Amino acid sequence: MHNFVYHNPTKVIFGKGTIPQTGNETAAFGKRVLLVYGCLSAKSNGLLQRVIGSLEEAGCIVVEHGGVRSNPSLADVHIAIQSAKAENIEVICAVGGGSVIDAAKAISVGTCAEHDVWKFFTGKKSIRQKLPLIAVSTLAASGSEVNSGMVLTNDSTQQKFGFGHRLLHPEVAIMDPETTFTVPANYTAYGAIDALAHIMEFYMTTEQAGINVQDRYMEGLAKCIMESCDHVLLDSGDYQARASLMWSAALALNGLSAAGLGKVGFPMHLIEHSISALHNVPHGAGLSVVIPGWLKYQANQQPARMVQFFRQVFDIKEMSEVETIDCGISALTAWFKKSGAPVSLKELEIDAGEISQFAENALAQAKIWRMREYTQEKIESILELCTGANA
Ligand code: NZQ
Ligand code: ZN
Repeated sequence: MHNFVYHNPTKVIFGKGTIPQTGNETAAFGKRVLLVYGCLSAKSNGLLQRVIGSLEEAGCIVVEHGGVRSNPSLADVHIAIQSAKAENIEVICAVGGGSVIDAAKAISVGTCAEHDVWKFFTGKKSIRQKLPLIAVSTLAASGSEVNSGMVLTNDSTQQKFGFGHRLLHPEVAIMDPETTFTVPANYTAYGAIDALAHIMEFYMTTEQAGINVQDRYMEGLAKCIMESCDHVLLDSGDYQARASLMWSAALALNGLSAAGLGKVGFPMHLIEHSISALHNVPHGAGLSVVIPGWLKYQANQQPARMVQFFRQVFDIKEMSEVETIDCGISALTAWFKKSGAPVSLKELEIDAGEISQFAENALAQAKIWRMREYTQEKIESILELCTGANA
């Protein structure tokens, strides 16, 4: 087990009826608030009004920046940064899923920088200063409400890049599972698949085998994510299942799962980000297409980790390593399908002829993420296994 420092500074306020605390938690950091939210849901389900009411009750002056799209764009963040500077914003409050929270993170650090915020994503600049951020999470998926990552799409370069820095942790995460009751079935499944990918990537790319505390933690979390998602897809108002899914997704990428694993990679995300950058595909839907192909390609590179994961998570017994991997990939793919997620580029209506473009698009991020082993050829070979041609 490698040495590690675990420091997650985000204060989590979790549970039913926690939204009214947003005002005081925000006012503790400042009164001039930029309220960042998505396109429709927070307005239509009344959450936005409740948050504004809470902020105003705490004496905050609220400047709104709505319309953050899924797979948030650099151009939109630029506009919000201008507004934050012009309005002398002191604190940011984000109400939404990972896209809104990531955009808010970029705004929080971009407002304090003299250069283009994109330079953080290309590794040209590091973060020195930020505005405090209160994240009100409304979707169980990315874990952005409790982690140090952010992902943004630069539409002009058609690049979707992720960047991590300890200053990107929100100061406070307010997580009321009841806010996720309105998440439709497809985005419930996409969120669960994203959280599963966060676990599988670390689990299967670490060189550290046999750290049972980490292995059991990740295996148990993976099972819980799938079980909770199944329950929610049966009953969208199942509070316990929504709560379990929301907390599991947070625990899947809040830093705990990676403790002691040493170097880990994000190969599934590396490839998916290019698909979303070029086709604006929902992140979790891109992952459900990439994951089976990556597992098939990876099967003979590191079989032991995959065999252990599938034996533990899918309770596969008395099979050889090769059979276990085969059975595990089929079981996971079947679960994606049962959850209503696509499992081929064909289902995303993406032509296999675009594979070399996706691979080329991913190379710049592979370099920044120090994953040089992901060459054009390797990424193309993985994507060839995702077309759905051999389904
Ligand atoms: O914009 P609105 O109307 O709110 O609609 C959103 C959006 O269409 C909707 N939604 C969100 N909360 C809802 C709701 N609909 C009904 N009821 C609610 N309570 O759901 C759609 C998807 O929202 P989005 O925020 O895009 O989804 P998610 O939370 O999965 O975030 C995806 C983004 O997170 C990034 C992804 O790359 C993607 O850009 N990620 C961020 C990470 C991080 N910061 O650590 C890691 C992840 O791996 C991921 O890459
Ligand atoms: Zn993800």
